[in-house]
Amino acid sequence: MEVHHNRRSDLRPLVLIVFLTANLFTASTAASSSSVAVASEEKVKLTLYYEALCPYCENLIVNYLYKLFDNGLISIVDLKFSPYGNAKIRSNGTIVCQHGEWECVLNTVEACAIHAWPAVSDHFPFVYCVEKLTYEGKYAEWETCFEKLNLDPKPVIDCYSSGFGHELELQYADEINALQPPHTYVPWVVVDGQPLYDDYPDFISFICKAYKGSNVPQACLGLSHLIKDTANHPSDHVCYKEQETAKSTLSKIISATADFWIDRAGMAESI
Ligand SMILES: *[C@@H]1O[C@H](CO)[C@@H](O)[C@H](O)[C@H]1NC(C)=O
Repeated sequence: MEVHHNRRSDLRPLVLIVFLTANLFTASTAASSSSVAVASEEKVKLTLYYEALCPYCENLIVNYLYKLFDNGLISIVDLKFSPYGNAKIRSNGTIVCQHGEWECVLNTVEACAIHAWPAVSDHFPFVYCVEKLTYEGKYAEWETCFEKLNLDPKPVIDCYSSGFGHELELQYADEINALQPPHTYVPWVVVDGQPLYDDYPDFISFICKAYKGSNVPQACLGLSHLIKDTANHPSDHVCYKEQETAKSTLSKIISATADFWIDRAGMAESI
């Protein structure tokens, strides 16, 4: 992984703007948590199992999940990220990711950020920033997030390059592979132990329904009339876990063999 430390000067004006935005972020989080003091055992647990380059995960984080911080709901939610998704561990211990090597890099970087800044209000802006870049196809620029958010890159870079990030990824692998019922795709959103399946875009309704405390946040009032609208979130808005059955492997071999002979035939014709 290449690390550029000398881009700081060209980014100053941008840094300032984003820094101000980051401060607003923190200020609104602090204001909402002081208005609703919720004991941690009363909070609704929401875990997002995802992978960095699945477009539906990016969309969920960048266009929906951030709302928890805007509307004050974060004060009743114990929000956790699990950045591993549909990756697999090879027999030699290395990890192969669904959307290629970059996905492995960014999953690990996000795992390192979560470890470096354990409070969700501290690591969410970084996860959001990286996912926003990937959503825009600019994943190679992920390191600009440190400067944009005025964060020290060292804990994340050290975590990544020392191999500790890889250890964290193996822990996230254990976590997602232990899920009951098992996940079949990402984004896989679990609220108080229950997967939301295709209803994941309605996570706010599920949070409000699950919350049993007395300080019901403003954002939950008036939600009871909401009716599930499956037309808005069809089940193809997910990245499926590959089911590597004997049959599918066999059919891949057959079709690869067929392609090979078709190519040969094509070549023979053109000679
Ligand atoms: C692990 O295995 C993969 C392919 O199976 C290979 O490309 C990679 O170089 C191996 N890595 C190590 C560290 O052995």
